[in-house]
Parts: sequence; C-alpha cells; structure tokens
Amino acid sequence: MYTKTEDQVLLMKEAAMLVSKTLTEVAKVLKPGMTTLDIDLLCMQFAKDHKASISFHNYHGYPHHICASVNDVVVHGFPNKNPLKEGDIVSIDFGVILNGWHGDHAYTFILGEADPAAIELVKVTKESLYVGIEKAIVNNRIGDIAYAIQEHTEKKHGYGVVRELVGHGLGKELHEDPQVPNYGKRGTGLKLKENLVLAIEPMINMGTHKVYTDDDGWTVKTQDGKPSVHFEHDVCIKKDTALILSDFSIIEAAEKANQNLNSSYY
Ligand code: MF3
Ligand code: CO
Repeated sequence: MYTKTEDQVLLMKEAAMLVSKTLTEVAKVLKPGMTTLDIDLLCMQFAKDHKASISFHNYHGYPHHICASVNDVVVHGFPNKNPLKEGDIVSIDFGVILNGWHGDHAYTFILGEADPAAIELVKVTKESLYVGIEKAIVNNRIGDIAYAIQEHTEKKHGYGVVRELVGHGLGKELHEDPQVPNYGKRGTGLKLKENLVLAIEPMINMGTHKVYTDDDGWTVKTQDGKPSVHFEHDVCIKKDTALILSDFSIIEAAEKANQNLNSSYY
C-alpha cells in the first residue's frame, strides 16, 4: 500500500473525472438498439480525444476497451454486437491512464421500463457504495468498508455479495494493494491512511452470491442467471469524509435527461 501526495491526488482526480465524463457521454446516447461495441468505440474515442490511454485494453490480455456487463453478467463482460433492449441492466466499467495515473470506475444504467425488482437492486447497490465510502476515512479499517457494504445489501435486502472479485488500490497501476472486499468483519484488515486511493466497487446479485467465469476466460456471470449490478467510485481517504475523485452527478444529470434511460429510482 502506498499513499499519494496532494499533487498526485489532484492528478488522479483528473483521470477519474475523465472516466466520469466518458460515462456521461454514454448516458447521453444510450438507448435500446445500441450495441455494447458501439459504447466501446465511443469510450475509446472520447478518451483518445482527451489524450488518455485505456487502462483495460491488453491488461492481462483483456481484448476490449470497456467492460459491458448486461443483466446476469456481473463484471468483465465483453462488448458485443447484440442490440441492447428495453429492461436491460447495463454496467459500463471504464479506465483511463492520464498523465501516468489511472482512473477506473463504473456505473449501471437501466434501459427503459424494467422489472421493479431489478430497479431496486440498482438503487440498493448504488446506496451500498456510498455506505461503504462513509467508512473510508483515516484510522478506519478495510473491514469497516466491507462490512458496511455487506450489511446494506446482504443483511438488509437479502442480496448476494460477490466474493470472488473485490475493489482495489489505484494509482500508477490499475490494481494496487490493498484489496477491498465487499464483505467482511468490522475492525479487521489494513488501517486506512490519509491519501490512500481506493477503487470501491460493490458487485451485488439479486439472488445467490455464487458466480462462474464463461469459456472466454473473462465474463463473470451469476450462477442462478439472475441480474447483478456494479457501481465503482475512485475514493481518496481523508480524515472526516472521503474525497470522491470520480463524479456520478454529471452522469446522473445526463441519465435523467435521456428519455430512453430509467431514473425512476431517484
Ligand atoms: N474495474 C475493473 C477492475 O478494477 C475493471 C478491470 S477490467 C480488466 O477490476 F480488463 F482490466 F481487467
Ligand atoms: Co476497479
């Protein structure tokens, strides 16, 4: 684990914000009939236009620029040519390298009219990210973040918290120490220090927490075929309140303005 200087945190904010701005561009145009490969191209082009390179492309051989995880796909879905349809739950995860620093975050969109239970899953997963972030302060421990997320999703709502994949430190590398699980015990794990930057990313299943990886070696799916939702923020540990480097508010504004997206849970 290493902490960043104030100057480095500012640079990391620029990287995180470029991802937020990219996801905002997605929120402006996303609609049924579009494909996740269309979104991949849009994100890649937007990042390139802003002089950034792409974090995920070729990372351990990852063959695309975004992860597009639809419905029962938990994370690391490959973009493809299937037209998205009304009711789909679409997580877009994107990462850029700007001035040597990674930004890496994710947002889940709902296309049009959807199953109320799926909309509730989206709402609660987003809430759980903020519940976790509340614990991301100096002298708390990783387990405090983990416990808070698990409590809100599993205990309160009966959802499944994915065990196999976790959040992570973020910096010059996409994945740095420490790991940030979305399940665990309060008061355990690494003690948080000021200016440690974490990517906190709850992956929450409507049904069982159990997942499997597809034959492509990447796509993670729920074992029961029920939907899964993923939100991710880049967060800098501070004394009283964490500093969130990424920004959902610009994505949400575009989401609300887009008639093809469902923002009824706000
Ligand atoms: N947000 C995901 C993560 O941090 C994205 C990684 S996709 C990969 O694990 F292709 F880069 F692995
Ligand atoms: Co991540």
